[in-house]
Amino acid sequence: MKLLSIETSCDETAVSLLAGEGNEERATFTVLGNALLSQIDIHREFGGVFPAVAKREHAKNLVPLLASALEEAELMRESLQPLDAGARERIATTLEREPGLADAFFAFIESVEKPPIDAIAVTHGPGLAPALWVGVNFAKALSIAWDIPVAGVNHLEGHILSSLVTSEGDRTYAIRDIELPLLALLISGGHTELVLMKDWLSYEKIGQTRDDAVGEAFDKVARMLDLPYPGGPEVGKLAARARAASSRSVLDEDSSQVLPHRGPSSMKDGREEFILPRPMLNSDDLDFSFSGLKTAVLYLLKERGEVSEAEKERLARAFEDAVADVLLKKTATALESTGSRTLAIGGGVSANEYLREVFVKSIAERHDGVRLCIPSVELTGDNAIMIGIAGFYRAARGDFIPLETLIADGNRSLAEA
Ligand code: KG4
Ligand code: ZN
Repeated sequence: MKLLSIETSCDETAVSLLAGEGNEERATFTVLGNALLSQIDIHREFGGVFPAVAKREHAKNLVPLLASALEEAELMRESLQPLDAGARERIATTLEREPGLADAFFAFIESVEKPPIDAIAVTHGPGLAPALWVGVNFAKALSIAWDIPVAGVNHLEGHILSSLVTSEGDRTYAIRDIELPLLALLISGGHTELVLMKDWLSYEKIGQTRDDAVGEAFDKVARMLDLPYPGGPEVGKLAARARAASSRSVLDEDSSQVLPHRGPSSMKDGREEFILPRPMLNSDDLDFSFSGLKTAVLYLLKERGEVSEAEKERLARAFEDAVADVLLKKTATALESTGSRTLAIGGGVSANEYLREVFVKSIAERHDGVRLCIPSVELTGDNAIMIGIAGFYRAARGDFIPLETLIADGNRSLAEA
């Protein structure tokens, strides 16, 4: 089955073409074409994602990205293909709220042959509603023009299923030998959830954050440390430097950088180490809370007034340590209470090197027989390949959505995936 997939839930516009084969027990995917444009540089000046700007950029980028994915897949044949009046009108109505997109769409669609694609997969939530709508309306317009069915994909399902793939060489991925029940730890900019999958594609949320998502906490701490958006990877880099430094002798470092002791900290091997809280670590449930941790960083910084580069690094490490402790503990409890055989970690924060390392170590040492699935780094952030993978599972079940009822929902939960 050949699938065209579209992702526009946040600040990445992405279009992919995948060939999928097999079934739930064993599926293989070949990436035929993949085009992605990140809006990070545009949003950086706002210090975060600005929904109206994201919407405008998606509308501008979708047609060029589709053309580039088709070209890469060698599925683009130029020829005059005028639409009939009925289809033209339906498409014009579908795209009327996406300024600029309709003109580019008509110019493109009437100049290429319909490619041999069996299904379209599009993210229909959760995410930023105005951004999601652009992708959904674009998918609808393509569906009308080419008469191809659309599968709506839950963004979180995309993160979960894409974390199960193993790379099978150049541009080929496989999902196989996955034992259920599966526990998924979703860590992204908008979500922190523990999700149980007892049967394929059926999800039960068993834990979640009560306030900030992990990625959000990373981004906010980054802002406090004057790091550019998106801050998660920057905090990770600082923390890694502190870890590298602590494996060197303290005498090698500039000790004049250590300010007099104020606020929560302790001395270790002659170095000052910050101590941050682990909110809800011992609570009787599988929920998380990261807002107190973020505030603790804020207070510490306020109290000090000024921090050196070395202190910033140690603070980033203390933050990462606290996040890791909480995620590990709650995940371990969930693995035990559910008897899960597979742990899947998905979402943008799963790119974090330290978290990857501690999870690999902890599963190997403490959870005998549990298989850990973490996506390769190129699949951790938002992309259309993950939407194509989940779309394949949906399409294989004939799970298509009639265009009249296909809608974007910024708060869509996995239970309605
Ligand atoms: O899944 P994603 O790309 O978008 C959402 O669905 O939210 O996740 C984005 C989040 C951002 O908060 C970003 O700062 C965080 O993932 N992130 C990281 C790292 N790379 C991305 N956080 C910590 N360490 C990283 N290396
Ligand atoms: Zn995401």
